[in-house]
Amino acid sequence: MIPVLTIDGPSGVGKGTVANIVAARLKWNLLDSGAIYRAFALAASKRNIQIDNIEKLVELASNLELNFAPDSANNTLAVYLDSQEVSSDLRTEETAELASKFAMIGAIRESLLIRQQDFRKLPGLVADGRDMGTVVFKDAPYKVFLTANVEERAKRRLKQLRQRGITGNILQTLEDVKKRDERDARRKHSPLMPSKDALIIDTSDLTVSEVVTKVMVLVKV
Ligand code: C5P
Repeated sequence: MIPVLTIDGPSGVGKGTVANIVAARLKWNLLDSGAIYRAFALAASKRNIQIDNIEKLVELASNLELNFAPDSANNTLAVYLDSQEVSSDLRTEETAELASKFAMIGAIRESLLIRQQDFRKLPGLVADGRDMGTVVFKDAPYKVFLTANVEERAKRRLKQLRQRGITGNILQTLEDVKKRDERDARRKHSPLMPSKDALIIDTSDLTVSEVVTKVMVLVKV
């Protein structure tokens, strides 16, 4: 059985940062499932497929030419869509907003499921997202759900956007984060919520390395 550590939680909580560090420490593979939803949204918008055209959207989800490659400069994964690097296009709030709208549709989630499960390779996988522990890797032996108050998450998200050279202000970011959380938590299919067997960590007053330590204690391999 290939071990999986799932890290779920709301926007801006720092899942990606923690997942990156933990995957590097464990020398496990990494799945940023949000990048798949974002890339899908970008591809649909480039092709001008409307949100009610479910047939075309499902076809796109099944045929999406999406690849991840190590980006050693940033110690993360670069994302290629139709052979073009789209890593920075994926990080904007517009793409995130669009991704969360498409992510409400059950048929799209279904079509992206196996693509995510294929990341489960030896020696193990760290997977971050919204439904990693509840749906995609329900049988994972290690599950974490990160939380933090919304003001703190908006601050973290804004800092991250600015580091990537994207402008924004705190009030707008706070609104964006709230809106996306609400949509992700209220949707019918795979809503954002902790798996019953997940360790819930409130990160509001914790540093990244304190969160990483707690997660590493859980995995202990
Ligand atoms: O994690 P990230 O902010 O990149 O995710 C973008 C959007 O993709 C989320 O707001 C959510 O709607 C969707 N998503 C999802 N399920 C996942 C990962 C992301 O629905 N496992």
